[in-house]
This record gives sequence, structure tokens and C-alpha cells, in this order.
Amino acid sequence: MTATPPAARPDYGLDAPGVVRNLFVAGAVALAAGAAASFGLIPAAFTGAWFAGAALTATGAWMVYSSKVGKVRDRERLLDRVRWAGGERVLDVGCGRGLMLIGAAKRLTAGKATGIDIWQAEDLSGNKPEATRENARREGVADRVEVTTGDMRQMPFPDGAFEVVVTSWAVHNLYAAAEREKAVREITRVLKPGGVALVKDIRHIGEYARAFEAGGCEVTRLTSPVTAVLAAVVTLGSLRPGVLMVRKGA
Ligand SMILES: C[S@@+](CC[C@H](N)C(=O)[O-])C[C@H]1O[C@@H](n2cnc3c(N)ncnc32)[C@H](O)[C@@H]1O
Repeated sequence: MTATPPAARPDYGLDAPGVVRNLFVAGAVALAAGAAASFGLIPAAFTGAWFAGAALTATGAWMVYSSKVGKVRDRERLLDRVRWAGGERVLDVGCGRGLMLIGAAKRLTAGKATGIDIWQAEDLSGNKPEATRENARREGVADRVEVTTGDMRQMPFPDGAFEVVVTSWAVHNLYAAAEREKAVREITRVLKPGGVALVKDIRHIGEYARAFEAGGCEVTRLTSPVTAVLAAVVTLGSLRPGVLMVRKGA
């Protein structure tokens, strides 16, 4: 009897691989400096490097854990917040290898899930449309998923084209506040009146909330401010994660 090989699992990649590498390298250097200071090999002023080393290493470890485990679990919890009818047109903004896109597609019976991205390698390992399509195939939803190349600040979709828009860890990759605001305006524009957007990011959540409200949307914060502040403390202010549920006025 020949055993059937196990189905290949989807691979959603590692977010910001260069940043993760730098965090581990800098963390190791700082921990070594802290240890050397504790043993009197270098001036005692460097003893505090222990704290910086622990914070940098913890941030790197959190990023690996989140990419590989936390985000996949979170996507189910998050997508469960939407009351799916099954026929929705869904857009994932900055879809990368399709984490949210494919999670949404699994909830559809007749609708379509579209991902848009510019496929930046520094933002996600192995970031390319073929990887997204392959993950959709592995998750059994290839027929409900399509991917498009385009910029979130100027999306090639008509007004009100989607009942649901999702975006995860993507908008912060626009470094200027005015550019992030453009992306928020685009999400609002392509959302159908009465439609819902789930917006998850590692920072700037308050800024997005204000921009959505200015565009006439109702915004609910799904993350407690305590969690965001705790993450900010542990990561020395570099991460302040949060999630918004946004409803566009009908
Ligand atoms: C950290 S990855 C997250 C990918 C995916 N959403 C996830 O949660 O696994 C950020 C994604 O945003 C995309 N991105 C960055 N700037 C973009 C832009 N201006 N327009 C569209 N996508 C963009 C990157 O190419 C990358 O795929």
C-alpha cells in the first residue's frame, strides 16, 4: 500500500526579514556588551545594555512568532468579526502571500477575494504573486482568489467595489503620514456604502482611525490600549499594534 504524501501547508512568509535579522544581531551585540560589563571586562556603564539586548531580542522573537503562528491564529478571530453572507467581494490591501486574502476566500461561497500588492521583498520574505496563488491552491480556494499588482494609494478599482476590505501589517510601510492618509482614503473609496473594513497594523492605528472618521466612517477599536502600550514598552516604542473595525456610512 502506498501512503499518500501529506498536503503541503501554506507558507505566509516572514514579515520584514531584514528588520528581524538586524534585531537579532543588535540584540546579541547588546547582550554580549551587558555580559562583558557585568564581568568587569568593559566599563560598568555598559551594564544597562542587558535591557536593550533583551528588548531587541524580544522584539525579533515576537516578530517571528507573529509571522509564523500569531498572525494565522489572529486572522481567524478577526475574520469571524464579519457577518459573512458568502457572496461578498473582498479586497486585501497589501495582501503579500495571502494570509487575510485566503482566510476571507475560505468564508466565501459565491464571492471573490482580490489581493493587491506591489510585492516588496523587504516587507515579506518570498513576496510574489505566484507564492500567493500557490498558497490559495494549497488552501483549496484558488478559484475564489485573484491577485493584482497595484499601489494602495491609487487602486485600480471603481468606487464602492467591495463589501469587505481587509489589510494586515501593510499600511505602515508607507513612511509619510500624508501617504498613509491617501491609502486610508482609497480604502474608504473602494468600500461599498454599508461595507466593513478590518484594519490591522503594527503602528499608526490612531492616525488611521481619525482618517476613517474624517471620511464619514464609524470606527471601533478591537485592541485594548493597554495591549498597545505594553507592546510599546517591551519593544522600546517601535511597535504599537492595533486593529480597527470600520463601517462605511450607508
Ligand atoms: C509585512 S507585509 C504583510 C503581508 C500580508 N498582509 C500579511 O499580513 O501577511 C506588507 C505588505 O504590504 C505591501 N505593500 C507595501 N507598500 C505597498 C503599497 N504602496 N501598495 C500595495 N502594497 C504595499 C508589501 O509589498 C507587503 O506585501
